[in-house]
Amino acid sequence: MFDLILRNCNLPDGRRGMDIGIRDGRISAVETALAGEAGEVIDAAGQLVTPPFVDAHFHMDATLSYGLPRVNQSGTLLEGIALWGELKPLLTQEALVERALAYCDWAVAKGLLAIRSHVDVCDPRLLAVEALLYVKDKVRPYLDLQLVAFPQDGVLRSPGALDNLKRALDMGVDVVGGIPHFERTMVDGAESVRILCELAAERGLPVDMHCDESDDPLSRHIESLAFQAQRLGLQGRVTGSHLTSMHSMDNYYVSKLLPLMAEAGVAAVANPLINITLQGRHDTYPKRRGMTRVPELLAAGIPVAFGHDCVMDPWYSLGSGDMLEVAAMGLHVAQMTSQDGMRACFAAVTATPARILGLDDYGLEPGCRADLVLLQAADPIEALRLRATRLLVLRAGRIVARSPAAVAALDLPGRPSRVDFSHRS
Ligand code: FE2
Repeated sequence: MFDLILRNCNLPDGRRGMDIGIRDGRISAVETALAGEAGEVIDAAGQLVTPPFVDAHFHMDATLSYGLPRVNQSGTLLEGIALWGELKPLLTQEALVERALAYCDWAVAKGLLAIRSHVDVCDPRLLAVEALLYVKDKVRPYLDLQLVAFPQDGVLRSPGALDNLKRALDMGVDVVGGIPHFERTMVDGAESVRILCELAAERGLPVDMHCDESDDPLSRHIESLAFQAQRLGLQGRVTGSHLTSMHSMDNYYVSKLLPLMAEAGVAAVANPLINITLQGRHDTYPKRRGMTRVPELLAAGIPVAFGHDCVMDPWYSLGSGDMLEVAAMGLHVAQMTSQDGMRACFAAVTATPARILGLDDYGLEPGCRADLVLLQAADPIEALRLRATRLLVLRAGRIVARSPAAVAALDLPGRPSRVDFSHRS
């Protein structure tokens, strides 16, 4: 006896016409022609059912603050950081919580049920940390929120930042963050990586650093991060986020760097929407694209996820929590237009970030939590092409969001018409 059966589902791995049986909030069977009674049966009609979208890199403390107190005029990362510095003293816990909860509503509606969010720890009041810990608890029935202690102004450059960061970890923040390229020198950047990785090793925590988020071809902090991961035995627990300088690095150096990263078990997160808009701002033409070398990282065996990074904040004025938009941008910027490339882009917003976040319950295996999204698309590639409608979003077997299918009818005489965006030749 099942609580719910989803019939005739296409799965991301290419299986078609599968039935998914759900009992007590978990997947209990994935089979063709699944036998057994069910409290409810939903016909997926040959459309894609996937585990939910996962965002490996976000800033929930800044989200939906666009225009406060003013708009970023230059469009650069550095003006964004300055602008966030102007906003910080004006923040209230109520407003932080309200904006974060509003974003979580958007996320759930888009089938985005797990987010790793950095939270700035440079404000000694740790208002944002308190607010997001509260939000994490509140949204737990719907969404897994993982927090990274992020010293936005530099753990060495900003007085008191290291103590604040440790306090944030004491309060329950999950991951150690950093921003070596914002320290005053390359030497300080490398030192910050050492200090933070040692702290993570001591506390048994994962590491996720903003790393080399610039167009500087000589920015080398990912090398330091890989070195420290290896030295401290942190393989599989360390992530380098952004890595945009790799776009501009010398090819010979990159051919040495990628095997070092693979050997150190370091994962990478690119943030396509943000990288394409923030980087290259000092260039005339040709103008660099700024995103890290995604296909080359993947070919070296390094897991690569795509993050949203920002939605309507000092760095980015757009966005809606739609990870298919993020993946589609990554696909275009990295020219990952082959079938395998497009499938890797879909994985970069689903299974790969789930692995990076260490989500144990994630997937379609029996025993996994029944977190599922029914998309108005036949397969992952069609989902990317259409930024497909999330017809149903399930959390632990319960429907938590639904959107109507796109329909239209021209009703021309002799040509009854109903829009169908799919292409089934
Ligand atoms: Fe970021």
